[in-house]
Amino acid sequence: MPVFGKGRKRRERTEFLETEVYRAPAESKHFSRRLYRAREKWNFEETSYKTIEKKFFRIFGKTSFIETRFEQAKRPVVTVDWGCGNGRAISELAKKFGKKIAAYGFSKDSFKEWSGIDNAKLVQATQEDILRYLKDNSVDLLFSNWGLRHFFWERNALLQKEKIVQGAFYVKRLFQKIRPEGMIAFDIPNRIAWQAKKELEKLLRRKAKIIVDKDSAAREGRSILYIVKAA
Ligand SMILES: C[S@@+](CC[C@H](N)C(=O)[O-])C[C@H]1O[C@@H](n2cnc3c(N)ncnc32)[C@H](O)[C@@H]1O
Repeated sequence: MPVFGKGRKRRERTEFLETEVYRAPAESKHFSRRLYRAREKWNFEETSYKTIEKKFFRIFGKTSFIETRFEQAKRPVVTVDWGCGNGRAISELAKKFGKKIAAYGFSKDSFKEWSGIDNAKLVQATQEDILRYLKDNSVDLLFSNWGLRHFFWERNALLQKEKIVQGAFYVKRLFQKIRPEGMIAFDIPNRIAWQAKKELEKLLRRKAKIIVDKDSAAREGRSILYIVKAA
């Protein structure tokens, strides 16, 4: 169920982007040959639900957050994939949990695969549009795989601290959309995970519990940040 633009009537429908857009040309000076080869093998936009399940263990591990929440609330658990790419993970997740969830995917790009998905609502929206689209206190779970991390990471070391502060401010705004005892979870490079946690704690004092899980299985050195809203 794709919604283009902000889902408003009369808004121009945006063209699908071909995923090839993300493939760097072989001769690109910005990518080393090794990285380029890795990019060729791994499509950045189509992570499976299986990978998400493994990576976000606190949500989908032994006791699934969605199952538990559904048992308590007796209504579909509103679940958002921030930066959903081609929608594969959110669609597979919707298939797994069926009536137990209301599944949404957001991305600033749209993908041709979206037109084949009818069990999740996929919305093309920028980071600001997303905030307008979601009501305050309406989301149970918002996760982001290779999405929100970009708001925290800066190649230029001198600007890194500022970037983390800005990222934390954006997440604070997203946090308003989360219901009590709901959760935001996203991956982040190890080296900045604790700084990000500190910054978020400053902004969300007493409103949230923030947990950093180092993902030791990941080769690129990443952690998962879980932000759980107080009751
Ligand atoms: C690297 S892809 C990851 C896609 C998917 N989560 C996966 O794991 O396969 C990043 C996604 O985030 C979206 N994205 C990046 N920056 C964004 C922004 N500022 N606002 C909205 N979406 C954004 C992109 O359009 C893309 O769908």
